[in-house]
Amino acid sequence: MNRKYRKTLIAGNWKMNKTPSETKVFLTALKTILPKGRWCDIALCVPSVCIPTAVRAMRETRVAIGAENCNANASGAYTGEIATNMLVDAGCKYVIIGHSERREMGETDAEVNAKVHAAMDAGLTPIVCCGETLEQRESGITEEWITMQIKLALRGITEDKVRKLAIAYEPIWAIGTGVTASPEQAEEVCQHIRTVVRKLFGSKNARATTIVYGGSMNEKNAFELLAQPDIDGGLIGGASLVPEKFVKIIEAANQPTV
Ligand code: PGA
Repeated sequence: MNRKYRKTLIAGNWKMNKTPSETKVFLTALKTILPKGRWCDIALCVPSVCIPTAVRAMRETRVAIGAENCNANASGAYTGEIATNMLVDAGCKYVIIGHSERREMGETDAEVNAKVHAAMDAGLTPIVCCGETLEQRESGITEEWITMQIKLALRGITEDKVRKLAIAYEPIWAIGTGVTASPEQAEEVCQHIRTVVRKLFGSKNARATTIVYGGSMNEKNAFELLAQPDIDGGLIGGASLVPEKFVKIIEAANQPTV
């Protein structure tokens, strides 16, 4: 990470875990052990039904609440979907877009791009996800794949806007598997993402863009991953479900800029 030029972000992704009641219990516990320092931004992306509870519980804290998905349309006949202005009105600051689990359910690059635009227009910070499968890594096409995903996800985003989003590199083979990318592997791809952003938006913007790593990040491996120059934080699934583990990861982000 490099706090001189860009923000560090520690974001939880609860996925389809925790009820509103469980959210309340979690956040009560989290508040009592939350570090006071302000070395990083903290977000918790929770299931939509938990958003009101989470926003209420964390109102007086520095923990921002986010959603795990959104719809790109402003309103209308989209049964079961949630628009970005609804998320804003509910108190969300962040939204995860293009998570591999949603891409697996059929989300296309074009939809990801439309959602990024909708989220930014509404004033949300999108956490835009990309990542390769094990097969792609073993075939040696990781960089090409990531380049394509980033180019398509950020299509039409203007230079003044790109710093306001975060990018998450999440190798699919590392998500929920307990197999983490090594700090070197993660750094290599995060650095590559910054190069892609540089080519698209210029070096000042690339330097100011927050790029985080996700995929089995936990309280044990976080410090080493976050010590890498191009890893500006984490998107954390499993380990964000336990207050003590999540706090340890926040604490691991408290290190001098390299
Ligand atoms: P994990 O999930 O930390 O449980 O691997 C990360 C994610 O999918 O965002």
